[in-house]
Amino acid sequence: MPDIPDHLVSLKGGFKAFLAPPPADVVRLTVGEPAFDTPSAISEAAITAIQAGDTHYTRGEGRESLCAAWASHLRNRWNIPVQDDGIVVTPGAKQALLYAIMVAAEPGDEVILMAPSWPTHVEQVELVGATPVLIKCQKPSFHPNLDEVAAAITPRTSAILINSPNNPTGAVYTPEEMQGLVDLAIKHDLWIISDEIYTELIWNDTEHVAPAAIEGGFERTMTITGPSKTHAMTGWRVGIFAAPTPLAKVVGRLQGNTCSHIPAFLMPAAEVAAENWEAVAEFRDDYIRRRSLMMDLLNGIPSLSASEPEGAFYVMVDVTATGMDGTTFAARAMEEAKVQVIPLETLPGGEGFVRLSYAAEDDVIEEGLKRLSEWLNDQ
Ligand SMILES: Cc1ncc(COP(=O)(O)O)c(C=O)c1O
Repeated sequence: MPDIPDHLVSLKGGFKAFLAPPPADVVRLTVGEPAFDTPSAISEAAITAIQAGDTHYTRGEGRESLCAAWASHLRNRWNIPVQDDGIVVTPGAKQALLYAIMVAAEPGDEVILMAPSWPTHVEQVELVGATPVLIKCQKPSFHPNLDEVAAAITPRTSAILINSPNNPTGAVYTPEEMQGLVDLAIKHDLWIISDEIYTELIWNDTEHVAPAAIEGGFERTMTITGPSKTHAMTGWRVGIFAAPTPLAKVVGRLQGNTCSHIPAFLMPAAEVAAENWEAVAEFRDDYIRRRSLMMDLLNGIPSLSASEPEGAFYVMVDVTATGMDGTTFAARAMEEAKVQVIPLETLPGGEGFVRLSYAAEDDVIEEGLKRLSEWLNDQ
């Protein structure tokens, strides 16, 4: 076999190693997806479309009515002034992120990310030959320090990647922090890649201000979103790329030359999702209850400390008082307590932490935290 390029061999699998289905007796507090089913109106739209023969090539960016529905949602909900033809519907938000990073970074460029960062953001930057520059966030809130972000900008910096609410930290950046990041991008003529997949999942009073909604922000921001987390559609692979129209046209060609488009019969379903936010409101109530449940149970374990997550469905748990580092804690929790958690030890900024997900059912959360508590009591 000829050589596989080094930069592809070295591509890491993100959290994949910790997401592998464990033996049946293990409680999983790892999974980053809702424990709900996709709302039936969305599924029915796809079934109807496939039965009606909607199985042929179509517009690469996504059907006009589909793009219009998502553009309208982004304009009305988040004040992002995107035109209908500024939308490209992609196979998952991940693919939209890759397109954005391909636009924003060339080989040799530097991309600023807040650390600890979701591994896919880092891997995608490396995939295009650029260098991720990781700015460690302040503990325990995991908000960015804007002076440190400013100090990290060099002539090679081409983009700042923002992910609020954040995976893995659960931090929701304030309007002032968003303004500060956009100001830096304007001052240094940088792209902003704004991963907004969790913006419907904010649990405190912070108002999400999209960078693209801030004056001077839209022309340099690629907004990434989609229904995966909000509508329990992770397996559907539908994502949204939103940007100024000339840029969306370039990304439309990028998609046209690679995967063409998302499956035609998923388009009517993705359109229903863009117009159907009632189910999301119900999901929110469940998340709020599960977050409280997890925090109450965590607060009852003296050697673990965690601050209230502000958004998404993840809790950063500081395990240093157990005398273990994050990797040892996760390995031993799996082996001895039969609980699967994600260690963040190897991510810059995540040393001493593990990530727990409260996107699980109540009884799973209860059982997982009970096992962790008993295991740690026996140490
Ligand atoms: C921050 C972040 N962005 C994007 C994604 C991917 O979304 P999708 O499933 O639509 O590709 C995830 C999924 O875990 C995520 O956590």
